[in-house]
Amino acid sequence: MSMMTLPIIMHVWFTVLVSVSFAYHNDVDINKVRKEIDALKGDAEKIINLSVYGAAQNQSYNRLAELTDKFGYRLAGSQTLEDAIDYMLDQLKADGLENVHGEEAMVPHWVRGDESAVMLLPRRHPLPMLGLGYSIGTGPRGILADVIIVKTFDELEARASEVPGKIVVYNQDYKGYGISVAYRSQGASRAAKLGAVASLIRSVTPLSVDSPHTGMQSYESGVKKIPTACITVEDAEMMWRMSQRGERIQIFLNMSAENLPDKMSRNTVAEIKGSLYPEQVVLVSGHLDSWDVGQGAMDDGGGAFISWQALSLVKQLGLRPKRTLRMVLWTAEEFGGIGSQSYYQNHKKNVKNFDLVMESDIGTFTPTGINFTGNGNASKIMTEVLKLLSPINASTLYGNAGGEDIAPWMSAGVPGASLNNDNDKYFYFHHTNGDTMTVQDPVAMNLCSAVWAVTAYTVANLDDILPGDRYVNYNIKLTQH
Ligand SMILES: *[C@@H]1O[C@H](CO)[C@@H](O)[C@H](O)[C@H]1NC(C)=O
Ligand SMILES: *[C@@H]1O[C@H](CO)[C@@H](O)[C@H](O)[C@H]1NC(C)=O
Ligand SMILES: *[C@@H]1O[C@H](CO)[C@@H](O)[C@H](O)[C@H]1NC(C)=O
Ligand SMILES: *[C@@H]1O[C@H](CO)[C@@H](O)[C@H](O)[C@H]1NC(C)=O
Ligand SMILES: *[C@@H]1O[C@H](CO)[C@@H](O)[C@H](O)[C@H]1NC(C)=O
Ligand SMILES: *[C@@H]1O[C@H](CO)[C@@H](O)[C@H](O)[C@H]1NC(C)=O
Ligand SMILES: [Zn+2]
Repeated sequence: MSMMTLPIIMHVWFTVLVSVSFAYHNDVDINKVRKEIDALKGDAEKIINLSVYGAAQNQSYNRLAELTDKFGYRLAGSQTLEDAIDYMLDQLKADGLENVHGEEAMVPHWVRGDESAVMLLPRRHPLPMLGLGYSIGTGPRGILADVIIVKTFDELEARASEVPGKIVVYNQDYKGYGISVAYRSQGASRAAKLGAVASLIRSVTPLSVDSPHTGMQSYESGVKKIPTACITVEDAEMMWRMSQRGERIQIFLNMSAENLPDKMSRNTVAEIKGSLYPEQVVLVSGHLDSWDVGQGAMDDGGGAFISWQALSLVKQLGLRPKRTLRMVLWTAEEFGGIGSQSYYQNHKKNVKNFDLVMESDIGTFTPTGINFTGNGNASKIMTEVLKLLSPINASTLYGNAGGEDIAPWMSAGVPGASLNNDNDKYFYFHHTNGDTMTVQDPVAMNLCSAVWAVTAYTVANLDDILPGDRYVNYNIKLTQH
């Protein structure tokens, strides 16, 4: 009988009776955990050997190349994504994984259509561009307007009187993706509030080879929707220089983007059932959808395929952990974590059985360890687990796991992990036509697969579920039962 049972019962009891939430921590007998992990060292070595040096060398890369070369990019709402999901279901079954199935989720269906932008003044110059997710089109006559170009939202506000009737071009400095992406996600509505007719945003990247980067943007409710797209760093800087010289800039923008009715898609699921606690789950994940550029190989084919590989390696070795290993390939991550939110809604009643949720969505370059979100006791355990990865130099436990698709679980108190890797080049290719298999490295994917498999398998094999306050954010639903 697990040591968890008593506190679970007591917690549910208190929740139902007095409707209070309280946090509890299991203290950790770290010496006992060390012994358990020591006993799993041989399995970890086998996984590493198979993935990095053995028969499964380059398998995740080769499998990903087959998918991306066969289907190309996989936009939410498209038939191509659904065909790729069907293909994955077949592949996962053929690989001998268990409980292979799709779980339905409604997803947005945005289509880019034809699009172009041309600078007409001070001279004619075509602007490579990519419309942003959820953007409306311009209508068949396009938009011809003068440009106001700014570096910051503050500058835009300060020059508000110049904005009406103009196309706002943002030439924001790159201050890291997390900061600069605000111009892509909010730029259209911020400009529309001041009377702009369209907005063009400098691509959010630290390095450019004249390539536009697409991505999602969000219209503020109650604000007029205007067409919006990204242009290259090179063109944004050039138009900035022109405007500094007092030159008049005029652009013709023509976009036929459309938001069609939502469509049914699926999250793709496969498992290795646990031998002792099959209802308890360690979840590994990446997203199968991508933007409609390149091949979606890096974002997030790599994360999706090391997640498949984690289960595949365990299966190939004939291992079966105490808890269930579950792979989920999310749908429609790029439109705001749509598939994963649907999955959370359908499974949150089971939150106490979610041991650890893992997501890889910031590259599968050479791994260095994992980022982890959990309480101090869980972190102590994870520090020990990660030591099993020292043979491949990936044993560092960092703080703050990240990932849109596991975020709902982490906010419900489930411990979370994300892959940490040498991803300095990630945003060079992110959401561009350059996101192809050429970015992926088979040796790095072997190592990432080993990190993912060893971490998931070891945690799933410990005597106890990782400590965490899984009930605090859940008591509202519990009391409804
Ligand atoms: C891993 O491979 C090395 C070198 O081939 C070998 O010495 C070692 O015994 C293997 N370990 C396991 C657990 O299979
Ligand atoms: C795996 O890929 C690496 C890098 O391309 C290559 O050197 C190695 O020979 C490949 N291994 C196999 C088994 O194909
Ligand atoms: C805008 O693009 C659409 C779709 O390609 C095209 O039919 C239309 O003629 C274009 N409008 C102008 C004014 O060029
Ligand atoms: C571990 O749990 C115990 C018991 O709840 C608590 O007293 C202790 O502070 C926790 N340790 C860490 C590092 O969080
Ligand atoms: C780990 O680092 C050591 C020392 O730098 C190096 O010799 C070894 O090749 C590395 N192992 C892997 C799998 O990268
Ligand atoms: C992971 O940890 C590193 C090092 O602390 C940090 O720079 C990075 O932002 C973290 N990743 C996420 C997704 O938070
Ligand atoms: Zn992604």
